[in-house]
Amino acid sequence: MKTAITELFGIQHPIIQGGMHFVGFAELAAAVSNAGGLGIITGLTQKTPELLAKEIARCRDMTDKPFGVNLTFLPSFTAPPYPEYIAAIREGGVRVVETAGRSPEQYMPALKAAGIKVIHKCTSVRHSLKAEKIGCDAVSVDGFECGGHPGEDDIPNMILLPRAADELKIPFVASGGMADARSLVAALSMGAAGMNMGTRFIATREAPVHDNVKQALVKASELDTVLVMRALRNTERVLKNRGVDHLLEIEREKGASLKIDDIHEQVAGVYPKVMINGEMDAGAWSCGMVVGLINDVPTVKELIDRIMADAEAIIRQRLTGFLDGSTVKAPARAAVA
Ligand SMILES: Cc1cc2nc3c(=O)[nH]c(=O)nc-3n(C[C@H](O)[C@H](O)[C@H](O)COP(=O)(O)O)c2cc1C
Repeated sequence: MKTAITELFGIQHPIIQGGMHFVGFAELAAAVSNAGGLGIITGLTQKTPELLAKEIARCRDMTDKPFGVNLTFLPSFTAPPYPEYIAAIREGGVRVVETAGRSPEQYMPALKAAGIKVIHKCTSVRHSLKAEKIGCDAVSVDGFECGGHPGEDDIPNMILLPRAADELKIPFVASGGMADARSLVAALSMGAAGMNMGTRFIATREAPVHDNVKQALVKASELDTVLVMRALRNTERVLKNRGVDHLLEIEREKGASLKIDDIHEQVAGVYPKVMINGEMDAGAWSCGMVVGLINDVPTVKELIDRIMADAEAIIRQRLTGFLDGSTVKAPARAAVA
């Protein structure tokens, strides 16, 4: 399949793996890129720019296909040295950066001077337009369904994607709630040139996380995520667990006076506990509503091949069939055989 996104990034399939803290290591990024998508290493999971340089080199050893690095600009307890991270990306020969959180405007000259293509992930049309204005090459439009930080507007992709299509000149991918061929074809129908998946890629064989995490995703339904940190205007969609129950109790108790320090234990340092040790009740970690559509743990290649084959079947059989009257009653189940 060829779209503006496959052309922009030189990839085979219009599928991107979004940056994920303590998930987006070289193993996953390389697996996604080798399967024809765009894998992304999560920059800030590497504690220093030197460690990021090593992770990029490790990924390069595992794939000769294009891959990217995510740089997240979010409120944090200590601000990372972004210029040094950008230097590591440039010197590692990486040609794609996924930015997220705050606007990457101040870093655009350095990224562009290095010939890096920038895809900014954002949750509103106005932020997408700003990204276009400051020279981003593409946008990842992240709907309210998404795992991680959905912003504060609460607009789901059914509205956000066509709105983005109406306003943007640069290509965009749909992000949030994307799991299978149905997601991809729907996203393409609404004007996107591909899709970005986070949560779905965690439940793959190559995702270098504890098996407890993968099993929790298979077990959970679409009712099992919840929003936290709304009072701090740093809303995050996470998987419910005992640590999150405690966090919600604190939020209820403190109301509008909530401070980040009140929930430090439930949000800081949680990722290594969950992703490495498999401590599923440790606290808040991002997870999308799409968890309700995850029922297996395939290899990344099996997942991507399945999505592309099913997408072709949906387009050629189901949709074309509506036009000639042959698929009037066919339901769109996960695998379109
Ligand atoms: C466990 C996890 C960690 C994430 N960490 C980051 C991150 O560090 N930076 C970032 O830009 N996005 C992060 N995200 C968001 C994803 O890149 C992606 O935008 C999101 O998962 C899309 O929604 P989905 O989960 O419904 O596919 C994370 C998502 C998950 C599930």
